[in-house]
Amino acid sequence: MIRPILLSTPHVGDAELEFVKEAFDTNWIAPVGPHVDAFEQEFCDAVGAGYAAAVSSGTAALHLALRLVGVEPGDEVFCSTLTFIATASPISYLGAKPVFIDSDRTSWNMNPNLLREALTYRARIGKLPKAVVLVHLYGQSADIAPILRACNDYGVPLIEDAAEALGATYKDQSPGTFGRVGIYSFNGNKIITTSGGGMLVSEDADLIAKAKFLATQARDPAPHYQHSEIGYNYRLSNILAGIGRAQLQVLRDRVAARRHNFEIYQRALDHLPGIEFMPEALFGQSSRWLTCLTIDPVAFGANRDQICSALAQKRIEARPVWKPLHLQPVFAECESIGGAIAEDLFYRGLCLPSGSNLTISDLERVIEVMTQVHKCSATYQARSYELDYVASAPSKAELCPPSESLGSGNLSKLTG
Ligand SMILES: Cc1ncc(COP(=O)(O)O)c(C=O)c1O
Repeated sequence: MIRPILLSTPHVGDAELEFVKEAFDTNWIAPVGPHVDAFEQEFCDAVGAGYAAAVSSGTAALHLALRLVGVEPGDEVFCSTLTFIATASPISYLGAKPVFIDSDRTSWNMNPNLLREALTYRARIGKLPKAVVLVHLYGQSADIAPILRACNDYGVPLIEDAAEALGATYKDQSPGTFGRVGIYSFNGNKIITTSGGGMLVSEDADLIAKAKFLATQARDPAPHYQHSEIGYNYRLSNILAGIGRAQLQVLRDRVAARRHNFEIYQRALDHLPGIEFMPEALFGQSSRWLTCLTIDPVAFGANRDQICSALAQKRIEARPVWKPLHLQPVFAECESIGGAIAEDLFYRGLCLPSGSNLTISDLERVIEVMTQVHKCSATYQARSYELDYVASAPSKAELCPPSESLGSGNLSKLTG
């Protein structure tokens, strides 16, 4: 049976095993230990951050970040709309309300002008948000400088969700290190993984100390168990931190591999009508965590969902771009500032398999299907036009017979 090609799978080697073995050999099988401390320090060195706290997930890191900047029940928090739900769920955990902000076309990330306008208006009516959560999507940094300026002008703390953007740059600096707090994810599909995990970074040592305190059940410094506020069980285990240390050593290679995937796809598919790759903004380098593109269905001859199913038939996993959060039923009551750009990117956007462990032949399989879908659709359209008045015009299925059915419905079960 043909091997599945998945969107983005973990890519680990022998070095990870060495670190895990060391944790076992020294019996540091706990959410504290030398790997945790070293991982935090090495992560700071890698991204240029002052201080870091390793936690159990990117979502946990966001939850802590919001708590640390003082978000409380009833507050409003501005948030990028084009993102995965984990960016906004922690706002709801705290009983606060997200207000979604649209993307711009250059970066697919939060539009700095919209943000400034919204903050100006909110300042005028005396209803500023408690924080802004800015996402760096698919490995592409947002345009941080004007966003940070707007936040500073109105005294609103900026939280950066760089879960997808480790290894990217914004003017030679790592996204995630500009705001009051930044977070990263080491989920299994991310550019480096600890199977599950996250990191919180800040230039403020006290803030990171408070994050570690909250992440370990907010235990007061007392000889007995004493708690003056509610905390969480969010620290990363020493074993997983060991995996993270080994993964950090190959971060540059992983970025290079994903950028290489992007270049191969772009070289092979860019000439097809109706395909437009996610642009790389001039202010930095994308890690190309995922290779994303938009499809103009009329020019290409098939829409995003038809392409996804054609790929799935060949056991290739591709996914639509994130459905904007302002369109999610769970956030139906929330305000959205703009939204049309994010909606367009969602309706036409596609993420191709992008793992750093893909082979050239994997990429060729994806390219072959994409090219075939376009060719078949073009042939079908031309023949339909010619045979407009012929009752026996062939169906699309006859022109492009489906390949052997390969159980594509099971693909999703294979991914994390
Ligand atoms: C943009 C974004 N934010 C937050 C998260 C949450 O990270 P985690 O899965 O580690 O909780 C993810 C991915 O999973 C993400 O893509």
